[in-house]
Amino acid sequence: MEKMKYKNKVAIITGAASGMGQLAAQNFVEEGGRVVMTDVNKEAVTAAAETLASKNYHAVGVQADVRVYAEVKQVADVAMEKFGRIDVLMNFAGGAETRMMNCHKPFYELPVEVVDWGLDVNLKGTVYFCHAVMGQMIKQESGVILNLGSVSGVEGSAGAVNYSAAKSGIIGLTKALAHTGAPHKVRVCCVSPGPVLTRPGMANMKTRLGRAADPQEVIDLILFLCSDQAGFITGTNYLIDGGRNCGGME
Ligand SMILES: NC(=O)c1ccc[n+]([C@@H]2O[C@H](COP(=O)([O-])OP(=O)(O)OC[C@H]3O[C@@H](n4cnc5c(N)ncnc54)[C@H](O)[C@@H]3O)[C@@H](O)[C@H]2O)c1
Repeated sequence: MEKMKYKNKVAIITGAASGMGQLAAQNFVEEGGRVVMTDVNKEAVTAAAETLASKNYHAVGVQADVRVYAEVKQVADVAMEKFGRIDVLMNFAGGAETRMMNCHKPFYELPVEVVDWGLDVNLKGTVYFCHAVMGQMIKQESGVILNLGSVSGVEGSAGAVNYSAAKSGIIGLTKALAHTGAPHKVRVCCVSPGPVLTRPGMANMKTRLGRAADPQEVIDLILFLCSDQAGFITGTNYLIDGGRNCGGME
């Protein structure tokens, strides 16, 4: 009973076909919530939502590319048709071009298509989803938007210039939307992780604690910020980076 923190709350979760987005969806339904899981990977997001639905949780999967506003809007429409409200938006979709596009050139040699991709998926897609849900949240006079930043958006990363620019932009987006939402009880927060073990390669990135985060450690913070317990928190960027930003790390 104690775990029913999100009873009947409705969340849209982007990037929900894998990694932290998928884990957040699982945690959210386990605590009584209902989820619209969305991702560009149709097969994987459908399978992930069906796995939850087969356990009698309220979960639907919808394919959408965050770069295409009509598809983003359709996800918000599905949430309204199926569940009648939108309480939470978690924007996980994104990633660095090095991994997602297998592109390892220096910034000034990147094809401009890769430059566009990095900005569009990580920043424009997040802006689009915020735009698509905010009107409904303001109408409800309640809601929480949780954006994913990164230590790259705070420190800058030479190997991921677009990604750093986009993730830094997400902090500005979060603050601006916190101003917009506050009079209507809509909160907007950002969580900026250091290395998270959604894949083994992240274990190589240095932290003061000498390890990468377990994905659940990041989701615990995110779900707290999305809960009523965090009712006085808005416009804030939370680093969860094992102490990388104490300074002195290579
Ligand atoms: N894992 C880390 O170390 C780490 C660190 C800092 C920040 N982050 C951020 O956390 C978020 C989730 O990371 P993760 O490790 O779970 O990654 P992940 O790769 O497991 O999940 C990202 C998801 O985004 C989806 N996606 C990619 N392009 C899309 C598009 N155009 N439209 C819709 N969906 C799209 C992918 O299909 C994938 O399912 C990302 O925004 C990432 O930048 C991750």
